Amino acid sequence: MERLGVTETFAGISLPGHLHTKESLHFATTFPFRDTDVLIVTYPKSGTTWMQEILTLLFSDGDAGPARTIPNWERAPWLEQTYFKEALRDTGGPRLITSHLPARVLAPALQRARPKVIYVARNPRDVAVSFYHFHRLAKFLPEPGSFDAFLGRFLEGSVQYGSWFEHVKGWLGQRQLLDIFYVTYEELHQDLPGAARRLGAFLGRAPSPETLRSLERHCSFAAMRDNAMANYSLIPREIMDHSRGRFMRKGVVGDWHEHFSPLQSALFDRVYREQMGGVALRAPWHVA
Ligand code: A3P
Repeated sequence: MERLGVTETFAGISLPGHLHTKESLHFATTFPFRDTDVLIVTYPKSGTTWMQEILTLLFSDGDAGPARTIPNWERAPWLEQTYFKEALRDTGGPRLITSHLPARVLAPALQRARPKVIYVARNPRDVAVSFYHFHRLAKFLPEPGSFDAFLGRFLEGSVQYGSWFEHVKGWLGQRQLLDIFYVTYEELHQDLPGAARRLGAFLGRAPSPETLRSLERHCSFAAMRDNAMANYSLIPREIMDHSRGRFMRKGVVGDWHEHFSPLQSALFDRVYREQMGGVALRAPWHVA
């Protein structure tokens, strides 16, 4: 099946052109945020959909109705994508919004209000593996080629959505300027109720034990894999070729061990040290 093959370039980053235009990106960077907005920010494949589900359950007080009946991209639409204006729900309550954009383009708009920002980071080795597999099914991304070639582009930051390193460093650099809650994919794995409790405290919505139980059930990998409103199975085959893999692929920590050769691992560690040396990052992943 043909790739969609349209790319938009913005602030030095390539983005899928069927989802982004100059206008939609400009709109994102000048968006009038409200203090009550809640923005999920991630580099792709870091647990975006998981966080959308968690926040949906937190804000519904554990009622699975919204998560089961509304697609995730409508519950927490992507700020920079073309459909955002129509999708944004104005219910008077907190608006859930998602973005993959780097801090350098989004921070000015965020600094004008005091929305809550939730940044989810994931071991970049697992991000690279997940992103590679996602390229195979997502027709709006380029053909990834071999994993080795893809990893090279990931490390140099020339993949779509730009450099993982720049993304994480940029958003960490906003910690003093914005109201940011930083959490890792690995922490969600290790203790989902604990992470949800901390998120609730950050958002001023302490979850009850029943809410937490429901959240744990509906935000498990198995439940989300089988939920058409979260697993992207509703996306037509011309855009996601579901015969080439599933969006909800494995959902594990450390899958990179199955993919990285010793040589790739050594290269990764060298680039990581060069890029992240001196960065204060609370990360559960180890770099040699
Ligand atoms: P894998 O490809 O490693 O399986 P994003 O939503 O940012 O695109 O991230 C997608 C990744 O998050 C995929 O990783 C997907 O399986 C994983 N994921 C989504 N929901 C999850 C859950 N409930 N538990 C664990 N992993 C989850």
